[in-house]
Amino acid sequence: MRYEVDFLVVGSGIAGLSFALKVAPYGKVCVLTKGDAAEGSTRYAQGGIAAVMYDSDSFDKHIHDTLVAGDGICDREVVEMTIREAPERIRELVQYGVNFDREGGGGRFDLHREGGHSEFRILHHKDNTGEEIERGLLEAARNHPNIEIKERQFAIDIITQHHLGQRVTKHTPDIECYGVYALDCDTNRIDTYLAKVTLLATGGMGNVYSTTTTPVISTGDGVAMVHRARGVLSDLEFMQFHPTSLYNPAEKPAFLITEAMRGAGAILKDRDGNEFMQKYDQRLSLAPRDIVARAIDNEMKISGKDYLYLDARGIGKKHLIEGFPTIYAKCLSIGIDITRDMIPIRPAAHYQCGGIKVDRNGESSIHHLYAAGECSCTGLHGGNRLASNSLLEAVVYAHNAAMSAINQITQNAPSTLNNQIPDWNAEGMVLNEEMVLITQTKRELQEIMSNYVGIVRSDLRLQRAFDRLNLIFRETEDLYNRSVLTEPLSELRNLIACAYLIIKMARARRQNVGLHYSLDLL
Ligand code: FAD
Ligand code: SIN
Repeated sequence: MRYEVDFLVVGSGIAGLSFALKVAPYGKVCVLTKGDAAEGSTRYAQGGIAAVMYDSDSFDKHIHDTLVAGDGICDREVVEMTIREAPERIRELVQYGVNFDREGGGGRFDLHREGGHSEFRILHHKDNTGEEIERGLLEAARNHPNIEIKERQFAIDIITQHHLGQRVTKHTPDIECYGVYALDCDTNRIDTYLAKVTLLATGGMGNVYSTTTTPVISTGDGVAMVHRARGVLSDLEFMQFHPTSLYNPAEKPAFLITEAMRGAGAILKDRDGNEFMQKYDQRLSLAPRDIVARAIDNEMKISGKDYLYLDARGIGKKHLIEGFPTIYAKCLSIGIDITRDMIPIRPAAHYQCGGIKVDRNGESSIHHLYAAGECSCTGLHGGNRLASNSLLEAVVYAHNAAMSAINQITQNAPSTLNNQIPDWNAEGMVLNEEMVLITQTKRELQEIMSNYVGIVRSDLRLQRAFDRLNLIFRETEDLYNRSVLTEPLSELRNLIACAYLIIKMARARRQNVGLHYSLDLL
């Protein structure tokens, strides 16, 4: 099937839906999403969204905290723009129907604090902020007559001149995007979606690692698509590990224990119940995430243990049960009463700071292709993202991209190339009956990345990872060239591409900065 729309959006998390709602008054919008519409990292966000809402705080302080967390390599102009725009974008979320907790149920927002923040500035909805944001945006999008949300549609590749038979390299000056090919996961048909403007909002790539807080959909598809289309990517060596995922080894994804709990007074402790953060940073348990995750990693290596503890008992029973109901219930379900017991924790891959390089308007190096949310790299996060700046970046850049895209479709003449774009060619492919190969290769890949490209790296470890990855890359390409395309196979290829890019960028970064930490660069 062939579809033509004005705006094509890939992804129905906070970035995709915010963009869709903004452009909808100006044309027909189609949102493709590979699973159920609500599934994605957005719905699992706990802590909240950072913004300066009252005079007790200031833009300068939030800017300063972001720059410090980013370890000196944020794009300062991007930081200033994002943080100054934040209150307006928050007001819009509220207008779309998103509820944030208010003090005593009244007018002022109830604000939390997280690591690296010098002030209480995190708007939240209890400890399930993401679920509330996703609910509000999805409801608004579903009610808009110009927005169609198509579930279980897996975008495979963006369509460029390459599909018109032209040679496209990363030096080709004017690569253009005409839309995407997408696999209909219900019918196994590959459809052609053509659009004047395409936005990638495909989220993160946490599943490159064995232990991650991100849902199974986070397989770096957008980044891999842009890589194959020869677009510009950046900063992928900065994979953020969240310090405190719940240690419950059989559970995937790893359940998050929000940093807001440390903001409320919870303390990191070793297996003997002693505090240890004083050895690493004077901000103790509330130091930025890269520092805390490295400290935990080091303590785990010294003691040879698989987990440490977060002690939240000092917060008090009432505050814990009322303020963190999701975490309280989750821990209780596996026999941990957080009002009485310490919580076993370990770091987990959580957020990709790098991604598809975009300008201030969210436009990528490929014409008519925008990116927003976790799959993009705006320059806001530098070497390490400040807690709760991700949801903020997603709404600010969805807005900027929408304004620019509206301008583009009203000024540009419609493409005359659409009727020349071929449908996907699946001739000669056979059904791959060995699904187990895909599952095993995925596991192997995750082991390689966790063992050699984790929180602490070295030249030798990166080389090992690269060599081992090479083998599974060749095996998987061989399988791909013979097989009918399926979602698991496509995701595996994308994960391998992302792993390759992380290693390549990590090897190129010859200085320890932010989340990139190599023993050979000390
Ligand atoms: P997502 O919400 O991940 O959505 C991605 C979408 O893309 C999905 O709809 C998916 O189906 C679709 N998709 C992907 N690939 C394809 C494809 N090939 N074809 C079709 N569709 C595709 N950040 C904060 O700022 N504050 C927090 O408190 C916070 N807490 C977090 C807690 C957890 C447990 C996690 C995992 C992350 C947290 N983060 C937080 C990070 C933040 O939630 C994410 O960075 C953000 O939600 C990403 O939004 P997004 O719209 O870019 O992507
Ligand atoms: C958390 O709640 O700790 C996650 C916040 C974030 O990832 O920004």
